[in-house]
Amino acid sequence: MEITFINVGYGESILITADDPEREEGQFVMVIDGGSMMDSEYTGESGRIRSYDFLKKAGISHIDLLVFSHVHEDHTSGLTPIIENIPVRKFWTSIRLSPENVGKRIEHTDSLTETNRKALSSINDYSRLMKELDNRDITILDGIKPDYFRAGDLVIDVLGPDPDHKKTVEASLDRIFTEGSAEALNNAISEMTESMNNASLILRLKYKGQTVLLCGDTNAKGFRHIIQKNANLLRADVYKIGHHGQPDSVSKELVRAVDPSVIVCCASNDHRSNSSSETTFETIREAMKDQPVTYLFHDGLYMDEWNPDTSPRNGIRLYIEENKIDWEIIMP
Ligand SMILES: [Fe+2]
Repeated sequence: MEITFINVGYGESILITADDPEREEGQFVMVIDGGSMMDSEYTGESGRIRSYDFLKKAGISHIDLLVFSHVHEDHTSGLTPIIENIPVRKFWTSIRLSPENVGKRIEHTDSLTETNRKALSSINDYSRLMKELDNRDITILDGIKPDYFRAGDLVIDVLGPDPDHKKTVEASLDRIFTEGSAEALNNAISEMTESMNNASLILRLKYKGQTVLLCGDTNAKGFRHIIQKNANLLRADVYKIGHHGQPDSVSKELVRAVDPSVIVCCASNDHRSNSSSETTFETIREAMKDQPVTYLFHDGLYMDEWNPDTSPRNGIRLYIEENKIDWEIIMP
């Protein structure tokens, strides 16, 4: 199995491929999230690339499973060109929109804060995306209903989000479509944006004895329901930390439960919004004590002795086999 964390700057887009004789060309292809579509994200010399451009370059001709973690611009917006240009078999989402809001567009108003304008553009993108899926007759799976998915030797279990939290976030998202005044719209978007990270899908991939934990922007609080139920579920060899490595992304309890040998962080190389924060890695070091951990950064961040290689990259690729995990930088 290969997992590529595409360098979409501050955002996330992940390509997963695994042999499966029952699928087209003998390969199961899965993509999680599409990164941002903002031009400003793709300037500079660090090798950032739009998700669709990367998939095209990688020769991806079909996607068996397109997974969507949550409605934020840095995960949502880049999905549109993917759906428009690559045949997608199934779409798997944590967040459902009410049918009456699918395809609806909320107009921007000057009175929205800049953060909320960006959030609103991702909501509009998602609504359009859902309509596009309808038009193309693409099967939509509700994130927490099929609680596992199988393709060849790969088994994907769904550990989160917490179903109650998911429902609350879906209701607040639908409410945004009915708010009348600008003030109410601002409040509704702020409320939704804050709670959205922990509505992300938390997936555990098992392949030939290796385990990978992928969690969108879920922060430490969003894992609590799993730790309370059965912390052993979180144990993984590879752990892509949540929320771009911001200080709220991990707790010692969470890191100890996962006990990874490889940690991947998808953050911009300018540490935007305190992503890939020193606090986060201090927490990880304290939790892991002297255990060796490999740290991988999709955007060539300089992180002291853990990652002195800041060379430009289109992403980081992991090769996962029985008893072995290798990785390489994908050069631009
Ligand atoms: Fe994000």
